[in-house]
Order: sequence, then structure tokens, then C-alpha cells
Amino acid sequence: MISMLDLPAQDEPLREAILQRFRTILETGQFILGPYVEAFEQAFARQCGTQFCIGLNSGTSALHLALLALGIQPGDEVITTPMTFVATTWAISYVGARPVFVDIDPGRRTLDPNQLEDALTPRTKAILPVHLYGQPADLGAILDVAQRHQLPVIEDAAQAHFAQYQQRPIGSFGAAACFSFYPGKNLGAYGEGGAITTNDPGIAARCRMLRDHAQSRRYHHETIGFNYRMDALQGAVLDLKLPHLAEWTRRRQQLADYYDQRLAQLPGVTIPQRFAEAPSVFHLYVIEAEQRDRIQSALRERGIITGLHYPIPIHRQNAYLHLGYHVGSFPYAERLAERCLSLPLHPTLTESDLDRVCDALTQAVKETL
Ligand SMILES: Cc1ncc(COP(=O)(O)O)c(C=O)c1O
Repeated sequence: MISMLDLPAQDEPLREAILQRFRTILETGQFILGPYVEAFEQAFARQCGTQFCIGLNSGTSALHLALLALGIQPGDEVITTPMTFVATTWAISYVGARPVFVDIDPGRRTLDPNQLEDALTPRTKAILPVHLYGQPADLGAILDVAQRHQLPVIEDAAQAHFAQYQQRPIGSFGAAACFSFYPGKNLGAYGEGGAITTNDPGIAARCRMLRDHAQSRRYHHETIGFNYRMDALQGAVLDLKLPHLAEWTRRRQQLADYYDQRLAQLPGVTIPQRFAEAPSVFHLYVIEAEQRDRIQSALRERGIITGLHYPIPIHRQNAYLHLGYHVGSFPYAERLAERCLSLPLHPTLTESDLDRVCDALTQAVKETL
């Protein structure tokens, strides 16, 4: 069987070092924040080209705190795309603001900057592009619009660690960027984890305070706070894994190139488009095909496990029907949701594994045409 993830195999060479650090944590009893989290925060900020990184307990918390730190409030609108994981919009809802959607550009599959201006209203307070599947959004064009209208940009970088846009790391473009270290992400913890990166000392200080019950000093709470701290075990794992991420990313990109070669000519299948100024880090390798569900079942029968990211765009989720969008509101997002199929891609796969996937896919597509 070929599956979407094989975390034990990927981490095998690091296992002893990780266990050693876990032992140290058990012996010192420092389970929350602490030196490993601080070391990771510094190293991750350096990699993202930002002054600050604040380690948190999830990517969802990162989005929530970034919006709070920017002062987004009930009645405000935040623009994002409906083709994302729902946590992007949860965070907007948590602060009482309204998600306003803009369709994706069907090539990049990220927020289409050409449609941004039509979505602006006097209540718009921030723009939240998502670097979906590891493909950076068109940050240059998005920042142009944002600057013209003096709006902050928050990057949802949960799927795009180490990606670059015009040779500069994502995570450093907006007022703040939000990362997830959910285990299956390109950089994954051994539980939940997330972080905010920023160059703004005010945002960094607010997020640091808010994550820890809004304490300025022990038991002095300045506002309503949260328990969003990163725990020490996650800091220890992430800090050990970080130096390997560049190599794992290159391997993902090599494997994606291999898929491209094998699948470019396959009728009925669309492979991901490439953007020279913003190469994808391939958190996911997502093809598009008619009869996606039948193809997915046929692959499963041949032992190939694939994923759907995501089968229902956010404006069609029950949780968000109240926003008043309908079928046809965002045709490119809806089309991608119907046709997307994520093929297995992780650093420990081999070219011969990919040959198996491609042979099975070729067969499955033929059967469904
Ligand atoms: C695009 C996107 N945003 C936000 C999140 C939320 O991150 P987490 O699961 O760490 O809360 C995720 C991942 O799950 C994601 O893929």
C-alpha cells in the first residue's frame, strides 16, 4: 500500500535525538514553553527572515491571535478564499468578523488579486491569502492592492513552510504570517503546534502576551487572554527537525517533478501549474480530473491512498451558509473542489513508488473515460 504519509519512516534517523530531548524534559519537568521552544522560535524566525516568531499550540490559534493583534473586531470584514482548510475562516469568526470570499486564480489555486478590489467595502480590515498546497499566493499583486487601501495582509502559511516568493521566504511579507505544525505538515510536531512570524514588535509583544493568559507579569492579566502556548515536547521536536526541512522540501519538489513528467501527457488529468518566481514546496501534489471520485476508488482498490483537499469549499459548508453565498458564487473554487485529487507525496517515497501510483492512475483514468 502507498499512503499519503509515512511519518515514522521520515523521522527514523532523528528518533534517538528526539527521545534524548524528551528524557531531558521529563527530568527537568519544564513542560510548557522553555528553552527548546525559545531555540525553535529563534531558528524559525531566522529561516523566515523575520525578527520574531511566537510558538503556539496550533495554526488555528496562530490565525486567531494574528487577527486579534491586528485589532480585528466584530463587524469588520476579512477577505480570504473559500478554497482552504476551514481553520482560516474559523479564526475570522472567532474575533466576530465576517469572512468575505474572493475566488481563486485557477492556475495558482490561491486568492485571485484581480478580484480583490471588487470585494472591498468600508468594513474591510484585512486580507488573508492562503498559500494552498505549498504554492505561494501572488503576494506582489495582493500587497499592491493592500497597500493602495492601507490594509494589513496576514499570510496563512500553514501549508507552505520554507516556500519563497521572488526568492524571499514567505512568512515575511504580511503584517504577520501563521504556520501550523500539525504532524502531517511539511514541518510537523508530535502533536499540535503552530507559530506566528512577524517583523512588527507590537504584534509580536501582543501575541506573546495573549498566548499566555494575557499576563504582563505572573497573575497580572491585561485583557482577556488564551492558553495558546507551545509545549516543550513540540518545541524540542520542531527544533530538531528544522535543519532537515530544506532537504525534505527539495525531495518533495523532485518527486513533484517526477509526477509532472509521468502525468503531463495523461489525457483527462491536469497537473499543477508551476510559477518560476514562486515555486511550490508541495505540501500536497494535487491533480485535477473529471470523475475524481471514481478514480479515487479505483486507486484505493489498487492500494494507493489519495486525499481530497478540499471536497467542499467553505462557502458551501453548513457552518457558513449564513454568509449568503450559493453554488456558482466562486466557480473556480467549486470546480477545484469537485476535481481535486491529492496523490501520495512525502520525502520517503521513491520514484518506483511514484511509478506504481502513475501506472494505477493511468489505468484508473482509462477505465473512467
Ligand atoms: C490552510 C490551513 N490553515 C490553517 C490550518 C490550521 O492549523 P492547525 O491544524 O495547526 O490548527 C491548517 C491545517 O490544519 C491549514 O491547512
